[in-house]
Amino acid sequence: MAALKVMTIFGTRPEAIKMAPIIKALEKDQRFESIVVVTAQHRQMLDAVLELFAIKPDVDLNIMRPKQTLTTITTTVLSQLDQVICRKKPDIILVHGDTTTTLAASLAAYYHQIKLGHVEAGLRTWQKYSPFPEEMNRQLVDVLADIYFVPTKTSQQNLLQEHHTDAQIYVTGNTVIDALKTTVDQTATLPFLKGVTERQRLILLTMHRRENQGLTMRRIFKMIRQIIDRHPDTVLIYPVHLNPAIQSMAQEELGNHERIQLIKPLEVDEFHNLMARCYLIMTDSGGVQEEAPALGVPVLVLRETTERPEGVAAGTLRLVGTQPVAIEQAVDELLTNQVRYQEMAHAQNPYGDGRAAERILTIMAREFGLADIG
Ligand code: UD1
Ligand code: UDP
Repeated sequence: MAALKVMTIFGTRPEAIKMAPIIKALEKDQRFESIVVVTAQHRQMLDAVLELFAIKPDVDLNIMRPKQTLTTITTTVLSQLDQVICRKKPDIILVHGDTTTTLAASLAAYYHQIKLGHVEAGLRTWQKYSPFPEEMNRQLVDVLADIYFVPTKTSQQNLLQEHHTDAQIYVTGNTVIDALKTTVDQTATLPFLKGVTERQRLILLTMHRRENQGLTMRRIFKMIRQIIDRHPDTVLIYPVHLNPAIQSMAQEELGNHERIQLIKPLEVDEFHNLMARCYLIMTDSGGVQEEAPALGVPVLVLRETTERPEGVAAGTLRLVGTQPVAIEQAVDELLTNQVRYQEMAHAQNPYGDGRAAERILTIMAREFGLADIG
């Protein structure tokens, strides 16, 4: 029997991190032929992940441009994938999550009538513009998909509520936990922590969401600087997203401070090990909200909504919103109230056992009637 041709299509850092365990599993399994297509919606941040996991794309669309817009990403990816799909003739296309690459690739799969598997399906805030455009991207992808690999029962319920067919929804856990299993190492040395003493408390910040950019982000940065000023035993580390607008605002509002380090995006293994050593994390990232509960590090989510209620229920995440005063109160509380801090600092991972990729392969094999010889 010929191997099943599985085409994975992705473009940004988080997609690459969460697709990597699936690609590595496909490479080892003779029932499948793995075809890796990257759009390179992100360039440097994608390449860092590809290098770490030793993934060599079969096709690289290399689309990233400065100041790219949702429209230019969508149209470029859609038109370029046309020839790629015609040439490679995959049996199934896998996409991940909710980026613009994800939506455009899903549409391309539909136009070519190729089966579409959505990894990390079913996440919802039910708010059209929050996060923007990710909430509509994932809803639209789920309309187009044939097989849903959902991380949790909550995401399964979300899809059932939208009347998707139960038989096509599989709870697999999140592949980010598979990735975490390969990266976290308590003995790893982190060179950028050289100047940080044992007595200092590390606060990690990441921020990049479109709906936070502009005035909201500037006000938050100003408040964070004041918080660091008021707590002399803290050090803030912010690996700044490569978006030039975020880079310049971070420099303007958080630069030139002896206890604030603005650094380049970290390799994912370094980032996971940094997370594990932090006292507290502030973020608007999606992936960080899934990783932190597994590591037992409290997270203040700097967003108005979250599609990761499991982390909130586990006690590790607190949705604080984007009002500077609310953020200030929440940080002050975690820095001064040890009872409250300990309530949040428990490692309780709601996102699976690190075997999501293995399950996804088993499900695909079953869907396509492959022999069980992996
Ligand atoms: C994208 C996703 C978002 C995801 C995020 C992960 C969409 C609409 N958004 O947002 O869901 O959370 O990735 O980080 O798909 N840049 C570089 N080098 C890089 C990466 C980015 O220079 O390696 C710069 C470029 O100038 C680019 C800009 O960042 O134009 C914005 O990148 P883009 O992919 O459009 O948006 P993100 O905010 O990264
Ligand atoms: N990450 C990384 N280096 C960094 C910051 C984050 O490797 O400097 C990883 C992080 O561990 C997580 C993913 O990037 O797995 C999250 O990506 P991002 O926040 O860009 O996107 P989102 O998850 O919000 O879509």
